Amino acid sequence: MFTKSFATLLTIITAIVYLSTVTAFPAYGSLAGLSQRELDVILPTLSSTKPGTTPGPLKYNGTKLIYDKDHEWQPTKSGDIRGPCPGLNTLASHGYLPRNGVATPAQIINAVQECFNMENLTARFLTYAAFLVDGNLVTDLLSIGGKTKLTGPDSPGPATIGGLSTHAVFEGDSSMTRADDFFGDNSSFNQTLFNQTQKFVDFSNRFGDGLYNLTVAAELRNQRIKESIATNPKFDFTSPRFFTAYAESVFPLNFFVDGRNPVRALSMDNATLFFRDMKFPVDFHRAAAPIGGKGLRDVFAPYPIKPGKNINGINTYTPDPTSADFDTFCLLYTDFVTKTVGSLYPNPQGVLRTNLIINLRNFYSGIDADENCTEIFPYGKV
Ligand code: HEM
Ligand SMILES: *[C@@H]1O[C@H](CO)[C@@H](O)[C@H](O)[C@H]1NC(C)=O
Ligand SMILES: *[C@@H]1O[C@H](CO)[C@@H](O)[C@H](O)[C@H]1NC(C)=O
Ligand SMILES: *[C@@H]1O[C@H](CO)[C@@H](O)[C@H](O)[C@H]1NC(C)=O
Ligand SMILES: *[C@@H]1O[C@H](CO)[C@@H](O)[C@H](O)[C@H]1NC(C)=O
Ligand SMILES: *[C@@H]1O[C@H](CO)[C@@H](O)[C@H](O)[C@H]1NC(C)=O
Ligand SMILES: *[C@@H]1O[C@H](CO)[C@@H](O)[C@H](O)[C@H]1NC(C)=O
Ligand SMILES: *[C@@H]1O[C@H](CO)[C@@H](O)[C@H](O)[C@H]1NC(C)=O
Ligand SMILES: *[C@@H]1O[C@H](CO)[C@@H](O)[C@H](O)[C@H]1NC(C)=O
Repeated sequence: MFTKSFATLLTIITAIVYLSTVTAFPAYGSLAGLSQRELDVILPTLSSTKPGTTPGPLKYNGTKLIYDKDHEWQPTKSGDIRGPCPGLNTLASHGYLPRNGVATPAQIINAVQECFNMENLTARFLTYAAFLVDGNLVTDLLSIGGKTKLTGPDSPGPATIGGLSTHAVFEGDSSMTRADDFFGDNSSFNQTLFNQTQKFVDFSNRFGDGLYNLTVAAELRNQRIKESIATNPKFDFTSPRFFTAYAESVFPLNFFVDGRNPVRALSMDNATLFFRDMKFPVDFHRAAAPIGGKGLRDVFAPYPIKPGKNINGINTYTPDPTSADFDTFCLLYTDFVTKTVGSLYPNPQGVLRTNLIINLRNFYSGIDADENCTEIFPYGKV
């Protein structure tokens, strides 16, 4: 008798906690990896939006003033979200993206093309990759940070609200200015990493005469990989991180260097503004022509390493021959769709499934036709 009413009481408490969790579920919270039970309760509370049209390339694609008086920098307000990407953080702090850090994929593509002259296929590929695994496919919103803790880990509802900071689906290890997820805070700017002996500033001094250039990028990337191998027992450098790590090493050169500057090298003052303050340098002009991951292979070439991970604690880095690498680009695409997205959405229904199909198509539209990748349809077609 006692046991039975106790059980009933527990059920009621659980239901109340669950409901309050669910009521609080924000429209930008990622639905990735949630159980069917969680989805059943959360989905009716969200108003669904048809995915926006994918923006095409810029009409005028030369350099121009980006830090203008319509886009003043503002400090973050309480509740504003920022995350692991200095590029997107800066766009939000200048109002090129919503200042609260929640945006649609179309807003992100427009902003990175307009402000940094990111080439349209790169912008699509990156944005839809991130959106598929970290965004809310029903509301068409993505948080540029996230991993907000909603309730305790024992809560029957979702423990965290995913966004770009979610580890291992897009965000990854051995970043230049962010610590590995294993060490805790993976998405905030880390001044020690930025400064410290053998890190961003020090490497720029040693290999670039005080400027971050392609030589520095290769040295620093190699050092960060070696450091993760030696200190992070969970270090994972397989696809997709393998690709994004090299791409992010060249982004400061391709996007943070002023488009009027003929030499692709970034000063520490300007780097600090972007990475730490999320701010354009005064008079910042975007790149002079559309650009994506240019230089990526130059970062890789001096210290080639196979994708792999620490399989049994620190210093046990072992190549993973099943991971995509630079020679198997289409495998990056198919693995991302079938393994990464597939494990997060094993059995999507209704509008979730429809929007997944549409966004997978948008993701594929970011692949250069010359790669000859065959489009796949794991959830069928609409
Ligand atoms: C197009 C959409 C974009 C998305 C979805 C995106 C997302 C991300 C994410 C999730 C990370 C964290 C990866 C990690 O270090 O674990 C990251 C890092 C980074 N992003 Fe972005 N990004 C985008 C565009 C850009 C642009 C336009 C720039 C430059 C203007 C940029 C510059 C960087 C840099 C430099 C890093 C490396 C930070 C570090 O290693 O400390 N990103 N981005
Ligand atoms: C930039 O715009 C010009 C003029 O419209 C066009 O010819 C050129 O192909 C564009 N460049 C890229 C890389 O899209
Ligand atoms: C995107 O831009 C590239 C050049 O930067 C161009 O070759 C390509 O046709 C553009 N894609 C679309 C869909 O317009
Ligand atoms: C910053 O990075 C250093 C070096 O990896 C690490 O010891 C420190 O704990 C990190 N700080 C934070 C706040 O994550
Ligand atoms: C990653 O960073 C987020 C944001 O700072 C933090 O909440 C989270 O605990 C970190 N680590 C893990 C393992 O999720
Ligand atoms: C980083 O370097 C700056 C400038 O040299 C210095 O003011 C700051 O104290 C350093 N911070 C850390 C955490 O090393
Ligand atoms: C980077 O700067 C250093 C020092 O000035 C120089 O020796 C090196 O050639 C530069 N690297 C590139 C790729 O320009
Ligand atoms: C810093 O950025 C500004 C604005 O983009 C640029 O004009 C200036 O040349 C940059 N400084 C250095 C030393 O590269
Ligand atoms: C794609 O196919 C074309 C025509 O068959 C071929 O010339 C090209 O080398 C292929 N590209 C890649 C990346 O395999």
